[in-house]
Amino acid sequence: MTTIAAPLIRAEVANSAAPLLRVDWLTKHFPLRGGLLKRPRPVVQAVDGVSFEVGAGETLGIVGESGCGKSTTARLLMHLVRLDSGRIVFDGDEVGKKHGFSRRDLHRQMQMVFQDSYASLNPRLPVARSVAFGPLAHGMAKRAARARAMDLLQAVGLDPVLFADRYPHELSGGQRQRINVARALALEPRLVILDEAVSALDKSIEAQMLNLLVDLKTKCRRWTRGGGRSRHRSAATHRTRSTRPRDAASAPAAVSPKMSARRCRRR
Ligand SMILES: Nc1ncnc2c1ncn2[C@@H]1O[C@H](COP(=O)(O)OP(=O)(O)O)[C@@H](O)[C@H]1O
Ligand SMILES: [Mg+2]
Repeated sequence: MTTIAAPLIRAEVANSAAPLLRVDWLTKHFPLRGGLLKRPRPVVQAVDGVSFEVGAGETLGIVGESGCGKSTTARLLMHLVRLDSGRIVFDGDEVGKKHGFSRRDLHRQMQMVFQDSYASLNPRLPVARSVAFGPLAHGMAKRAARARAMDLLQAVGLDPVLFADRYPHELSGGQRQRINVARALALEPRLVILDEAVSALDKSIEAQMLNLLVDLKTKCRRWTRGGGRSRHRSAATHRTRSTRPRDAASAPAAVSPKMSARRCRRR
């Protein structure tokens, strides 16, 4: 099976219309505790046969009711949770296979913003150091990483002079989520996953964050066209997918509101 798949994958790379991310029949069932007296252990079918594609420069929204498996799908994509079955192909390479993307490569190319802005940041690090952490861990010099963090704080609308040395508890929820967006962009990823990144914010801040994301997308597009500082390509199309929950007996699968995948691709 592997030997058949490899030439197919190479053929996709040659084809410029190939999606950046392709997910085939993603499945994750969580076994629950219990199963006494040799009874089978009950399982939660968190994700069951989910397939989709995200093209270069495309924004994809995955919608569905609470508990239907959106966050689990996002965590599977990031390889924070092990797949039961299915296939994730990123830019033509199957993730987790011997000659495909390693987890480290993947985390450089794909980043995620989580729902809880506070839990995603290290409370003991000033926010600029949190933003610089990824580039430093991937071998960037300290000074360059700090400079990138400052640029990103500016890009997400936080004055670096005022905010760089603050700790997460010294920021509002909206400001913290901006830091998380900056952190996600610090490695110039090609795909950003936003798992209900604005749902914990109040309505006015939610609107600000959405505007910021639209703004950053426009910047990515401009950088590409102008060949400016960062050579990002931008999202050109939007799609939304919605899934209905399966029958009540089988635990929810599929995906639901407000998780969106967004990407800026480097040339
Ligand atoms: N680690 C886990 N162990 C057992 N069940 C889990 C685990 N993570 C998620 N689930 C279950 O999987 C289902 C989908 O969860 P989740 O992906 O967080 O839903 P959503 O993000 O769509 O609200 C839920 O029923 C949840 O209880
Ligand atoms: Mg969720």
